[in-house]
Amino acid sequence: MDDLQELEAPRNITIKGILGLLMANISSGKDDSKQVISLGMGDPTAYSCFYTSSAAQDAVSSALTSANFNGYSPTVGLPQTRKAVAEYLSLDLPYDLQSDDVYVTAGCTQAIEIALSILARPGANILLPRPGFPIYGLCAAFRHVEARYFDLVPEKQWEVDLRAVEDLADHNTVAMVVINPGNPCGNVYTYQHLKEIAETAKRLGIIVISDEVYGHLAFGDTPFVPMGVFGSVAPVLTLGSLSKRWLVPGWRLGWLVTNDPDGTLKTPKFVERLKKYCDICGGPATFIQAAVPAIIQGTQDVFFRKAISILKQTSDICCQRIKEIRCITCPCKPQGSMAFMVKLNVSMLKDISDDIDFCFKLAKEESVIILPGIAVGLKNWLRITYAVEPTCLDEALKRLKSFCQRHSV
Ligand SMILES: *Cc1c(COP(=O)(O)O)cnc(C)c1O
Ligand SMILES: *[C@@H]1O[C@H](CO)[C@@H](O)[C@H](O)[C@H]1NC(C)=O
Repeated sequence: MDDLQELEAPRNITIKGILGLLMANISSGKDDSKQVISLGMGDPTAYSCFYTSSAAQDAVSSALTSANFNGYSPTVGLPQTRKAVAEYLSLDLPYDLQSDDVYVTAGCTQAIEIALSILARPGANILLPRPGFPIYGLCAAFRHVEARYFDLVPEKQWEVDLRAVEDLADHNTVAMVVINPGNPCGNVYTYQHLKEIAETAKRLGIIVISDEVYGHLAFGDTPFVPMGVFGSVAPVLTLGSLSKRWLVPGWRLGWLVTNDPDGTLKTPKFVERLKKYCDICGGPATFIQAAVPAIIQGTQDVFFRKAISILKQTSDICCQRIKEIRCITCPCKPQGSMAFMVKLNVSMLKDISDDIDFCFKLAKEESVIILPGIAVGLKNWLRITYAVEPTCLDEALKRLKSFCQRHSV
């Protein structure tokens, strides 16, 4: 009973849950024919400009029609899939990952679930970023791992407040989570900052869980550097998936990877625990796994460049339009991922009490969906997704502006 209440507390509401409520609010209050535009969900597949590569599509269809992959795969993943992911990630590392470092999962979500479950033990706590990705808090609550939140600092490109990390950690801390490129902030961390994070983790004797589901989706001045580069400073569990870079979140193909060249993490006990937990989970569909080598090797650079250039364009549209809206400010320009955070000044609005009120009224009056910041841990902020077709995005931001003007004091 207590547990259920804990899980139902507002801080543990999911993004999907809040967006569902906002959508229901539109249907109930709709009085005109404005098309609903969502800047809420990070699922770009609704727009034809975010279509996966033909190589990816062909790879899946030939894996399926070969009829060779209708059976079970090993629960840690098919050998060729583990090898392909190991080679793909090794391209950006100073050492080579082995197939055995890779565990194939049902999307990055299941990789999160596995990481937190195998680290859970009585009394354990985990350090999570605020703002962050709510699934981490939710998973921690289910596993009775205490979540402790450190701030990301908007004035410093959303860098981790490392002093807070040191203050929060104790002998029961098992890991800290870093999301880079960042959701919900759109930040991309520098090599130097990632190094400092690894050094802090080393001092504290904890693992870094690095969520790189947006790996390579960087379009600003800072290039994407994987945390695994610092795997010999502190052990890193890298989580990722095809979902965002290949624009196929529905394929449910992800990975959990031990970036640990010195083998401090890979004790027989840890590996055993990981394998057993994979036995419980099962993995993604075998034919999707079988397609992974051809998906990775066959997708041309031009596909990635196009996606990046659209995201750069749409993030620019957001920043420009937001500048025209007095009650909303953008502390730092997004450099990667598909979403960023902007700050709401409610004292400039006459009949809006907070971010939740703002988003509900916006949905009702303008049929535009934006995620209230509280859903990712920051009250009176908003998370805007820009993985949206440019003309739709432009229209949504126009409506946002007129909504703000109408409600300003
Ligand atoms: C989308 C997302 C995930 C989940 O990825 P899937 O592969 O769709 O399960 C995990 N972490 C972050 C930060 C995300 O934005
Ligand atoms: C919000 O707006 C008010 C009124 O214009 C202003 O005085 C205040 O400084 C603003 N607050 C922030 C945090 O920007």
